[in-house]
Amino acid sequence: MTEEFIKLPENRIPAIRVVAMPANTNASGDIFGGWIMSQVDLAGSVCAYEKSKGRIVTIAVNSFKFHKPVFVGDLISCYASVKKIGNTSITIDVEVFAQRSREKDNCIKVTEASLTYVAVDENRKPRVIRNST
Ligand SMILES: CC(C)(COP(=O)(O)OP(=O)(O)OC[C@H]1O[C@@H](n2cnc3c(N)ncnc32)[C@H](O)[C@@H]1OP(=O)(O)O)[C@@H](O)C(=O)NCCC(=O)NCCS
Repeated sequence: MTEEFIKLPENRIPAIRVVAMPANTNASGDIFGGWIMSQVDLAGSVCAYEKSKGRIVTIAVNSFKFHKPVFVGDLISCYASVKKIGNTSITIDVEVFAQRSREKDNCIKVTEASLTYVAVDENRKPRVIRNST
């Protein structure tokens, strides 16, 4: 397979980075989509927690697209950014890049998603997000 590689986004810090391991494969030996979805949810939650300054839960996956497969040994970087802050909810865009075989210059966008989180209090009830940024 010939792929056109791109650069990782500059001046942005990934919410999470992780190496795709053999334990995360599907029956065909490529990386299981459900594993990627959980990394995306984690990355989005890191951003949502930070922005809402406290506990959050995932309420919805608004969109999710797997552009390219992920392979064992790829280094995955998930970038998260705030799309919208509501009263109690926060919508986060997540972009996932894979560095094939962990090579710095062999980078490709593999997944894009949008998720919504709700800020909750200690009783798991929605709490208002104070937007200070
Ligand atoms: C999150 C939870 C507390 C919200 O309670 P709720 O009574 O449904 O809350 P509301 O109807 O008041 O909605 C809360 C916010 O979510 C938004 N929301 C509700 N349904 C949504 C959907 N399908 N997509 C996007 N946003 C949605 C609402 O617009 C509202 O946002 P706003 O305050 O910014 O306007 C409750 O649904 C829950 O506990 N869900 C389970 C969460 C969970 O276990 N996630 C998986 C593990 S983290």
